[in-house]
Amino acid sequence: MFITFEGCEGVGKSTQLNFLRDYLKETGQDAIFVREPGGTSIGEQIRKVILNPANTEMASVTESMLYASSRVQLIDEVILPALREGKLVVCDRYLDSSIAYQGYARGLGADFVKKVNSYAVEHCMPDVTIFLDLCPAESFRATPGADRMEQETREFHNKVYAGYKAEIATSNGRIVPIKPSFDKNITRRLIIDALRERGAIK
Ligand code: TYD
Repeated sequence: MFITFEGCEGVGKSTQLNFLRDYLKETGQDAIFVREPGGTSIGEQIRKVILNPANTEMASVTESMLYASSRVQLIDEVILPALREGKLVVCDRYLDSSIAYQGYARGLGADFVKKVNSYAVEHCMPDVTIFLDLCPAESFRATPGADRMEQETREFHNKVYAGYKAEIATSNGRIVPIKPSFDKNITRRLIIDALRERGAIK
């Protein structure tokens, strides 16, 4: 099983991924956790280039292809070998991030992003994607030290959110929107229940 987590900036993804990691450990379920961009030595180097605030001249197509390159490397080195061994893989962001950020917010279009990524993800689509459904106004304020993507305008982040919403509508139920509650434990329960109902975890 392949599970991904998605959402706008500051929605509490990391906290919930840690909760899931703890739950899987407590219940004796073996899993591999990875993140995008990064997760491999080459991917982490690409991540530095993408997120470096000094890289103001980066073209949107370059950005899209760098995310895709990091993804190919992660799929090749980690995700596919693990899935072939029957392991559970949990990834912090994946293709839907590219569709929302580069496709919708940068304006490259969902079709362009899907095409660029088609080689990579053709045999490696998530079984379930948890989308933490908070709009940027509710979740995010850029702080000093923000990376290149976090520094983007409120308008950009609103487009990311709208992009995710559009993707949910066409995902045939793969993307499960979950509204984070103020009580992180309630959100935790909702996520675990959703994954269990779909047979992604026990
Ligand atoms: P990260 O610090 O991992 O953000 P977060 O904690 O919010 O997941 O940085 C990843 C950034 O890259 C984040 O702003 C989302 C963005 N991103 C894309 O624009 N396209 C992509 O395909 C991926 C995977 C991430």
